[in-house]
Amino acid sequence: MTKKTRHKKIMSIQKEISRKNLEKKINNTYDVIIESTSFNNKYYIGRTYMDVPDEDGVVFIKKEKEIPIGTFAKCKIIDVKDYDLVRRNSMKVQEILSNGIKTLNEYKREDASLEARILLADILGISKDDLIIYYDREITDDDIKRFEDGIEKISKGYPVQYLTHKKDFMKMEFFVDEDVLVPRSDTEILVEEMISLIKEQNKKDILELCTGSGIIAISLAKYLENVNIIATDISHKALEIAKKNANALLESNNINFIQSDMFENINNKFDIIVSNPPYIKSEVIKDYNLKYEPKLALDGGKDGLKFYNIIINEGYNYLKNGGIIAIEIGYDQREEVIDIAKKTGKYKCIKCKKDLFGNDRIIILHT
Ligand SMILES: C[S@@+](CC[C@H](N)C(=O)[O-])C[C@H]1O[C@@H](n2cnc3c(N)ncnc32)[C@H](O)[C@@H]1O
Repeated sequence: MTKKTRHKKIMSIQKEISRKNLEKKINNTYDVIIESTSFNNKYYIGRTYMDVPDEDGVVFIKKEKEIPIGTFAKCKIIDVKDYDLVRRNSMKVQEILSNGIKTLNEYKREDASLEARILLADILGISKDDLIIYYDREITDDDIKRFEDGIEKISKGYPVQYLTHKKDFMKMEFFVDEDVLVPRSDTEILVEEMISLIKEQNKKDILELCTGSGIIAISLAKYLENVNIIATDISHKALEIAKKNANALLESNNINFIQSDMFENINNKFDIIVSNPPYIKSEVIKDYNLKYEPKLALDGGKDGLKFYNIIINEGYNYLKNGGIIAIEIGYDQREEVIDIAKKTGKYKCIKCKKDLFGNDRIIILHT
């Protein structure tokens, strides 16, 4: 054995002893120097008494009361780290973030940076805009693991919003999980258009078909006064989420949520029928990286037009005089959807509006 190899071996044994000694401290109370607070501000990070070299490590203490940084305190230790390891990690919360972004870039995620930030900020319990302030803070092993596991899932196409269970829409934070489509920001265009149209024309009775997480109905209820809203979905699980969101986001939840296969359980007439139905052609769903979202929320049948046919052909019977239908469409469905509407001969005025990227996005039909 060379002198160098022997030295390396001794160092590694030394490190092992040191780690074991450190682990013995977990759940025990020691004198600790408080050095900083963790990212999420839930823990103090400190050092055990340093005159014992084999026990030189970094410890985590639950932040139950205020302890000034730099002072000694008797604390119950809840986690420990080998000092070298901590130095490697702590230096690099920023590095952890950039490693995450790098991985997502390698998997060609379009919003790599945003997704990594959303995930890390959620794990740390801070806003993603505040992340930069915390770059030099320590982070627990648990949090690092949660972040790395999350990045692995996102790299395979799993929506980050299913990990955080949050999606911002119309300045509200909606709960989402695998039972509902992750709301797309494009749908804000439909909602904004509806808000101004309903205000302008003083409309009152609104039906939303295919509500999913409830974003459209809840946004209309939030930003409009004196409206009656019924929101439907075929999925019981989706309706449970929509109700949960309505209860959390509206001062008084007066949306009537009904389980219904399109118009099946609807008996009233409305001023407005609004919907973002499933509209992807069955056979191309697999080409998009959408395998984690419910097929029920995506599948628009063979030609992608199944639900537009139902809404436009049957919807007329559920509209009051002067009633309006407003639907979100795929960027390449304008002509086909307008054709369906023209064939009915029931709609006087047909308008198409574009999204912020210049794609056709909404069709509005006036009776
Ligand atoms: C594209 S998602 C829209 C969800 C939500 N409105 C949004 O914009 O994010 C379509 C929704 O239609 C629902 N759906 C599918 N088939 C349906 C049917 N036959 N009747 C009613 N709702 C249906 C799905 O469960 C899903 O929640």
